[in-house]
Amino acid sequence: MKIDHIGIAVESLQEGLKFYRDALGLEYKGQEEVKEQGVKVAFLKLGESKIELLEPLGEEGPIARHLEKRGPGIHHLALEVSDIDDRVQDLKNSGVEFIGEKPSQGAGDKKIIFIHPKSARGVLLELCEVNL
Ligand code: CO
Repeated sequence: MKIDHIGIAVESLQEGLKFYRDALGLEYKGQEEVKEQGVKVAFLKLGESKIELLEPLGEEGPIARHLEKRGPGIHHLALEVSDIDDRVQDLKNSGVEFIGEKPSQGAGDKKIIFIHPKSARGVLLELCEVNL
């Protein structure tokens, strides 16, 4: 297992890119809107992983709430898995709690699901399907 990406909540992608792309020098890989998650995402390459800057599309949704409650910062950590449905079932059998019943569509057309922070000791963990 490895880290697919680190999700960082920002007020605006523009502002986030000023630091992560322009100052830090990470390679910018483009951006997209993910309506299902209520966010606009910018991707930056970081070795084998990525940083995803997340800007809320509106006043509602998890990223908007995160900014309101805690300000900008790390929102989630995403782990790459191969068979997400099987993995989720195994974890549910071990008593792990998820946000939502089954995987939904995330950035890059990948299937994703979030493990509840209650189960991951305070960390919002995303599982993200990568077909190897
Ligand atoms: Co993510």
